[in-house]
Amino acid sequence: MAEGARVIGIVGGTGDFGQGLAERLRRVGEEVVLGSRTPRDEFVSNAEAIQQSDIVFLSVPPDGVEFTCRNLADELAGRIVVSVASPVVFVGGRPAAQPGEISLAEAAQQAAPRCRVVAGFHTVSAKALARVDDPLDEDVILCSDDGAAKEEIAALAEKVVEGRAVDAGPLMVARWLEPVTAVILNVNRNYRTQSGVRITGIQT
Ligand SMILES: NC(=O)c1ccc[n+]([C@@H]2O[C@H](COP(=O)([O-])OP(=O)(O)OC[C@H]3O[C@@H](n4cnc5c(N)ncnc54)[C@H](OP(=O)(O)O)[C@@H]3O)[C@@H](O)[C@H]2O)c1
Repeated sequence: MAEGARVIGIVGGTGDFGQGLAERLRRVGEEVVLGSRTPRDEFVSNAEAIQQSDIVFLSVPPDGVEFTCRNLADELAGRIVVSVASPVVFVGGRPAAQPGEISLAEAAQQAAPRCRVVAGFHTVSAKALARVDDPLDEDVILCSDDGAAKEEIAALAEKVVEGRAVDAGPLMVARWLEPVTAVILNVNRNYRTQSGVRITGIQT
């Protein structure tokens, strides 16, 4: 696939995360198609967004991940699917995580077995993404069972953030990566900011 010729689709592209990511991707020269369950204006259906894309960001809430992937499994087949969902819940107003037995990314892979799931971007805040003129001073942590897909998303991630794409290993690692969002949200709350992560001690 030629660099620059690809199209990136965002399922759930009406949400804050998808909106911010789309603008960031467009600013680094990527072509982006936004999907929605209710197509209107610039938003096509999620199925159409996937059909037009080489890479698909699955940017729907955690409770919509499995159903969306099962519903769109045929369209997703063969595509790289980036799962950004985190099992965040609010307990007494405070962000917490309620992970299942397997990660949301693994559930996505099981529901759409012919796609190539990469989990990542869980530590990137939608609010930080939305401040499109400010550089994202952070790393992106990725995991996947598909090495080539992971490499392609790593290269894409490094166009969006100032830091590095860090390979955390196989898709199973998403079980421990996804809940980290709840840690970030608590840090943000305590410091009234939008924080991100930097991994130290590795050479790339
Ligand atoms: N917000 C953050 O800072 C942040 C950070 C890291 C990761 N994430 C992850 O990024 C994902 C998107 O976050 P967000 O804040 O943009 O979410 P959101 O606004 O709650 O949802 C995004 C879009 O998903 C669609 N949607 C809602 N419920 C759905 C369902 N049950 N099934 C399918 N689609 C549904 C809606 O679009 P339509 O109604 O137009 O279809 C909605 O606009 C989440 O999984 C979140 O865990 C978020």
